Amino acid sequence: MHSKIIGTGGYLPLKILTNKDLESIVDTSDEWIFQRTGIKQRHIADDNETSSFMATQASIDAMKSANIKANDIDLIIVATTTPDQVFPSTACIVQNQLKIKAPAFDIQAACTGFIYALSIADNYIKTGMCKNILVVGSEKYSSLLDWGDRSTCVLFGDGAGAVVLSESSTHGIISSHIHADGIYNDLLNVENNYIQMKGNEVFKIAVNTLGSLVDETLDKNNMKKKDIDWLIPHQANLRIIKATAKKLSMSMDQVVVTIDKHGNTSAASIPLALNEAVKDGRIKDDQVILLEAFGSGFTWGSVLLRY
Ligand code: UT7
Repeated sequence: MHSKIIGTGGYLPLKILTNKDLESIVDTSDEWIFQRTGIKQRHIADDNETSSFMATQASIDAMKSANIKANDIDLIIVATTTPDQVFPSTACIVQNQLKIKAPAFDIQAACTGFIYALSIADNYIKTGMCKNILVVGSEKYSSLLDWGDRSTCVLFGDGAGAVVLSESSTHGIISSHIHADGIYNDLLNVENNYIQMKGNEVFKIAVNTLGSLVDETLDKNNMKKKDIDWLIPHQANLRIIKATAKKLSMSMDQVVVTIDKHGNTSAASIPLALNEAVKDGRIKDDQVILLEAFGSGFTWGSVLLRY
């Protein structure tokens, strides 16, 4: 049995914060932010737009596009680093809001959270334990930002993306690969409620690690670079994304980029990008897609799938 994505959804808060807006908040410039990161704007949630609220909206969208009812969902996994509360889990709040009668839990792997969640969901389907799983990435990073720290506050945004992963007799997820190395804790973490990052050091490790991850994913499946139709990377920095595309000898036309509009939405970035490219018709049935992410922990991982 295979596990296949049969529907995608997304939610972005209405409020947009542009680089220009940030110029009046911290000592930065639109030029610096765009050149170093590729970001032009990000969405910022208001008080009512909690991670559970955004996850619920993205899930409704995904279930609609999958043509699946609440009764059909037999597991909910929410990847989030910014839960509404320590407990209950964001997934349980979503479960109640959607009136789904199924087990529900959160996964915390920072920016790699959606890849971890998808890898878990894949195994629940492949072992026959579930038929339809709601897999969500939802983040409200604006709640972790020190608006006086220009090295971090310009980078992140809020939003949620979701997919319905279902059993399929034909094709779907080919393989998933997840990793962690806790030794790098001090390079990227939350301290005193705010994100702290040694950006330059994280950048170098991210580029190298994602390069090896691409090799690992292709080697495991005896596939070549040219077999991949689309790269959907975690959106942390356009320069990191370009380095991975180069490693894959891919043109940027085959890479889904949303960082310009969304900034870094952590666990939400991949499902949001996937949703955009599915809905605008770029991604077509049977195409091979590589999803990859790198984040705090460090954690990193990939999912290779035939759509
Ligand atoms: O998603 C999880 C994983 N996260 C990542 O993968 C992020 C990885 N890191 C990055 O994306 C980049 O390192 C950043 C975008 C965070 C920073 O870019 P950089 O090219 O590595 O810049 P830098 O940190 O080396 O800073 C260069 C300069 C510094 O000034 P000096 O010391 O050279 O005079 C900073 O003070 O840029 C300065 N700077 C800024 N200037 C204007 C830092 N932030 C800003 C800012 N506006 N917002």
